[in-house]
Amino acid sequence: MTRHLFDPVALGPLALPNRIVMAPMTRNRASASHLPTPIMAAYYAQRAEAGLLITEGTAPTPSGCGYARIPGLWSEEQVAAWRVVTDAVHDRGGRIAVQLMHTGRVGHPDNQPPGARLLAPSAVPLDATVRTAAGPLPCPTPLAMTEAQIEAALDGFAQAARNARAAGFDLVELHGANGYLIEQFLAPCTNQRTDRWGGDLPGRARFAIEVARRVGEAIGADRVGMRLSPLGVVNRIRPWPGVPSDYAWLAEQLGGLDLATLHLVDHRDLGGAPVPSRVARKLRRAFSGAFILSGGYDRARADADLAADKGDLVAFGRAFLANPDLVERLRRDAPLNVPDHATFYSGEERGYLDYPTLS
Ligand SMILES: Cc1cc2nc3c(=O)[nH]c(=O)nc-3n(C[C@H](O)[C@H](O)[C@H](O)COP(=O)(O)O)c2cc1C
Repeated sequence: MTRHLFDPVALGPLALPNRIVMAPMTRNRASASHLPTPIMAAYYAQRAEAGLLITEGTAPTPSGCGYARIPGLWSEEQVAAWRVVTDAVHDRGGRIAVQLMHTGRVGHPDNQPPGARLLAPSAVPLDATVRTAAGPLPCPTPLAMTEAQIEAALDGFAQAARNARAAGFDLVELHGANGYLIEQFLAPCTNQRTDRWGGDLPGRARFAIEVARRVGEAIGADRVGMRLSPLGVVNRIRPWPGVPSDYAWLAEQLGGLDLATLHLVDHRDLGGAPVPSRVARKLRRAFSGAFILSGGYDRARADADLAADKGDLVAFGRAFLANPDLVERLRRDAPLNVPDHATFYSGEERGYLDYPTLS
């Protein structure tokens, strides 16, 4: 049966009215102490017509929080503040997943809550700067995680997932893409460990699989997904020979855990190369749950890829950021507002709540 963007679809325990997903996008509008703010509730509620909203990357633990003004999900205060966001979305008939993002070596101690440490699989610094209150600063060398710190990070993901459910989130997406902690374990350039968390593929993938398993046990695997970026180079990840078969193997393992979704990142319009279609196909075939496509989509390409069975859902990033009524615009094939890059990561309400709707 041919799929269309506006077909309803079941996703885990959810019934989605369409196959349109809002891609996760960091917007740095949380408070300095990493609490979701009321403007975030308004922003997501504006976009509640999506089949599924996925939030910006959200830190599961203080040490997973390397950026300024991103939200967290480790404290009761954060759960209460997120409840305002999920209520606003549900009141408008929407569904919302939180993306759990542990930044690992990406970040700066100035951005971290008290007591947090910059942790990574190995002490390999990211050769880049990160924004801080004092301006851009180089990322310091992270601490190579001890076994106890790995355990604490895994427990932190599971607890954050429980917190997500307590805050009213429908699903949890684990950020396994874009050079953050889970991908730092997967990639040989950032994982130089010689213990069971490194080395061969099962070693390097152990953290990703273990996070998925524990979060699945915590809240039910049918409410859990993972985002992956095979061949991605964000945050200086260097693709390695064997990426396609390694990721297909990982996709199969995640399917074996009965995860609800696998979300493929493609940064073709953001300075990256497109994911070759044979690689995307390999992952789709290997994974038994719902497959989410993303990266540079418009309505025509989304419908064509759904009809060709390349995926089950399509995520829109910048188009959704700039068009609160994106679903209606796609339905009518109406022109889209252009995103303003200057306000992606700053600006409070400006470039956040003030993009015009058609009406
Ligand atoms: C401002 C901005 C912030 C982003 N933050 C995240 C993030 O927190 N987590 C993530 O997985 N991807 C993030 N991305 C990537 C998007 O989810 C998406 O993959 C990318 O924008 C390509 O899709 P598009 O061509 O539809 O915009 C971000 C992209 C933008 C533009």
